Amino acid sequence: MLLCVRAERTYHARGRRRDGALEPGAMGGIGVTREIAADGPCVSVRVPAKINLFLAVRGVREDGYHELVTVMQTVSVFDKLRVAVVGPPGQGHHPASRRRMGVELWHDLVAGLPAGADNLAVRAALALGEAAGVLDVTAIRDDNSRANARTVIDLDKDIPIAGGMAGGSADAAGALTALNRLWGCELTKDDLRAVGARLGSDVPFCVVGGTALATGRGNALAQVLCRGTFHWVVCQAGEPLPTADVYRSWDTHCKPSEVEPDAVLQALRSEDAVALGAALHNDLEPAAFALRPELEDHKKFLLDAGALGAVLSGSGPTLLALAEDAKAAQELSERVAAEFPQVRVARSPAGGPELVAC
Ligand code: C5P
Repeated sequence: MLLCVRAERTYHARGRRRDGALEPGAMGGIGVTREIAADGPCVSVRVPAKINLFLAVRGVREDGYHELVTVMQTVSVFDKLRVAVVGPPGQGHHPASRRRMGVELWHDLVAGLPAGADNLAVRAALALGEAAGVLDVTAIRDDNSRANARTVIDLDKDIPIAGGMAGGSADAAGALTALNRLWGCELTKDDLRAVGARLGSDVPFCVVGGTALATGRGNALAQVLCRGTFHWVVCQAGEPLPTADVYRSWDTHCKPSEVEPDAVLQALRSEDAVALGAALHNDLEPAAFALRPELEDHKKFLLDAGALGAVLSGSGPTLLALAEDAKAAQELSERVAAEFPQVRVARSPAGGPELVAC
């Protein structure tokens, strides 16, 4: 069987303005929803971003990746994906009735978002089709495929791109979750994690969500007990920072560390925001600060402004500031807003990919 992949650059769903904002009263991707309503089932998923409360780099592995010990948690900054089979009526829209399936990515114009087959959500669709054995994979380069029924992934992004919050991995996890349902693959969460591991180090965690201790490349996971909710100010930097650049910078500027995550794990168990603030740790900070010296100043600024702790999120450049509670987070965000292109308050943990109404 054959899965024919057609990955389009950018389509504007009806109901969105050219600047990417939604029309008043419009649901995201309403054009897609209308087409979906006419054509067949639609599955929608909301998927949270990831933060690292602790990240230690133990050294470089034989496969070139870096050996990590990291504590990851989902945070309430979400992307949304709607998936559906669309196209001319009467062409057998149920996936099981077909051997060939195009996959098309719709999204607003977002600077830096990988297009088409370079996007992890599309790659996740291919990987799932292959793993589930429901469809085979090939690429179509002509326009004929748009005349046929195809699967559309409509991506609504809120997670910063290349921001150190696993936005691409979250989209891959969302696509795996939603298409598993749409295509009736019936893969288990463990199966989806295994498919996700081939797509990126953070994808297995994003498939599951919650709070986890990870080792290896960051994809060997153990669930971790976390009581209560923690409140953050998520401070986005202007320019993205590619993950690979930060690890290369670590190779140049840093040495393997032996620091352990016990203090973070204890703070999560005891719902102690003050202890968590003091224990936040990220070995990638010196590597990212070498590339972007202003990030170090921004971290100091957040601490001076009253954060219980501040840490680079993953490979950055997003910075996280921890607050005592929701009110303190709101007040802190107002104090620091002028310093960053975007700040928002968020809470963790934020569950995992969640199927929601289309
Ligand atoms: O796994 P993923 O594709 O998300 O990783 C992006 C890049 O980050 C890799 O190509 C690699 O350069 C770097 N990386 C690493 N060690 C890890 C995870 C990521 O060197 N544990």
